[in-house]
Amino acid sequence: MNDKQIKKPHIHILASGGTIAGLADSRLDFFGYTAGAAKVESVLAELPEINDLADLQTENYCQVASENANPELWLGLARRAEEILQNELCDGLVITAGTDTMEELAYFLNLLLKTDKPVVVCGAMRPLSAYGTDGPVNLYNAVAVAKSPDSRGKGVLLVMNDTILAARQAAKLDSFRLHTFGGGELGTLGYVAAGQVRIVGAPWHRHTMATELHLSDIHKLPQVEIFYMSAGADARLLTAMADLGAAGVVLAGFGIGTFSDAVSEQLQKLQRRGVICAVASRTQSGFTVSHLPGLVAAADLSPQKARILLLLALACGKTPADIERYFTLY
Ligand code: SIN
Repeated sequence: MNDKQIKKPHIHILASGGTIAGLADSRLDFFGYTAGAAKVESVLAELPEINDLADLQTENYCQVASENANPELWLGLARRAEEILQNELCDGLVITAGTDTMEELAYFLNLLLKTDKPVVVCGAMRPLSAYGTDGPVNLYNAVAVAKSPDSRGKGVLLVMNDTILAARQAAKLDSFRLHTFGGGELGTLGYVAAGQVRIVGAPWHRHTMATELHLSDIHKLPQVEIFYMSAGADARLLTAMADLGAAGVVLAGFGIGTFSDAVSEQLQKLQRRGVICAVASRTQSGFTVSHLPGLVAAADLSPQKARILLLLALACGKTPADIERYFTLY
């Protein structure tokens, strides 16, 4: 049996828009393009070699710029992803998305999907129409990671710029350069170049099969907002968040998770109203500790990742004690 006759894995590509599907009139337009304008088949048309890696099935779930994504859209994507993964013919899933909120999407899926099949999120920093677009190569590498047996049971992976990152730690760190995503000390799980996959680590935190968060428990998504600390920040904005319906608030605190006395006062008012509050750090590295009874420390999660965990825990009807526990485990 030659290579061509060996049965190829079935990989499903679920597209949701972003720069990887971005188009502009000029090949030098790196910033003014329309994200999500192209269908994923146009990206695949740039790299016929990808069909040697796997039998691909494509689906354009939506074509949005990810700055317009929201938890409802992620929930719909998660439900569709779960359906696809339940098909026994599916060996792995690749989701293409905009990079601006890709880290939130990846963590959202990492907390909810009940699968040990590879799930890989990827995108691009340069639109499909631009010189030097990174989209086709990122997609090629994402399919290579999705078909690799080494990727099983690793939770949702984010593949960009030849690097394989854990969804929990993956973060967009640069506004325009190709090497924008990083995973910090714990989040870099491996490398992939020209389809060669090298997985050298595993996620430490619980994910996918091992979380107590289930899609079937979610009927409505609560509102959870982020309050960013700055010197002299007007603490009354916290009350405005609760007045507008927030069931949870994540504070992007200073340093180890500190905040002003005025913010402390408003947080306590919110807590008395039943709003669950968590504190992350605006420092982008390190963990936080709680400086107020009932205030959940978000560990080393970024404010935007802490928001996802709090949102899903509330959506699944979890108690404050459960939520506190999840922030130490997930
Ligand atoms: C987006 O997030 O949809 C636009 C930016 C990108 O994909 O890099």
